Order: sequence, then C-alpha cells, then structure tokens
Amino acid sequence: MALIAWNDKLSVQVRQFDDEHKKLIVMVNQLHDAMKEGKGKQVIGDVLNGLINYTKNHFAAEDKLMKAHAYPDYEKHKKEHNQLTLTVLDLQKGYAAGSAPLSQSVMSFLKDWLTNHIQGVDKGYGPYLNGKGVK
Ligand code: FEO
Repeated sequence: MALIAWNDKLSVQVRQFDDEHKKLIVMVNQLHDAMKEGKGKQVIGDVLNGLINYTKNHFAAEDKLMKAHAYPDYEKHKKEHNQLTLTVLDLQKGYAAGSAPLSQSVMSFLKDWLTNHIQGVDKGYGPYLNGKGVK
C-alpha cells in the first residue's frame, strides 16, 4: 500500500507544481516500497538520490516563479526550502556513510515534510500566482 496518496486537498492551484508534487509523492512511495521489500543499499540509495535531486529542482522552480512575481512570502518560503534541503542532505549523507539506516522515522519525516509543506506553505502562493495569470 502506498505511504501517501495524492488528493485534491493537496492542490496548490498551479498545474506545474501539482504535477511535480504528484511525482514527489510517487517517489516517496517508491522509497517506502523499496525499504519494505528489503531492497539492497544500492537500490535504496539510488531511489533516495533521485528523490533528492527531483526535490532540489522542484524547490528551485518554485523559488524562481515566486521571485519572478514578487510573492510577498518568497523569503520565508525559500528559507523553509533551504532548511528541508539541509535535513534531507544530512539523511542522505548518513545513509551513504552507512551510519544511519533509513528507518520508519525517516519515512515519517518525508511524509510529514511533503504533506505539511505542501498544505501549509505551498498552498499560500496559489491564489497570489493565479492573480498574476499563473494557473
Ligand atoms: Fe512544493 Fe515549496 O515546495
């Protein structure tokens, strides 16, 4: 069973970012499945790297669009992206070094991060960007 499922409540009203969030959810679920199926370190490491790279590109795309439209909460939102990125890079480093197995608590962190950030912070830019003609 998937760890997280997309639903309309997660929509931020910007199509590009809804699509990217859906893809991120798919990737977190893939990581969850790989762990549950007891896949090897190489496989899990690759899935984790893919997720982190996709996330970095996603954050950069949001930052760019918010900045281009002078979104008032841009700085605050970008700071949260930076913080989340540092946290996942730490997880990745620990995993690669073999000091930290990916555990259920890591999956809980990723799940919370995805749902809380999307619902709590990302949703804020929807109406503003829609008002600038971004749908
Ligand atoms: Fe969709 Fe602000 O990350």
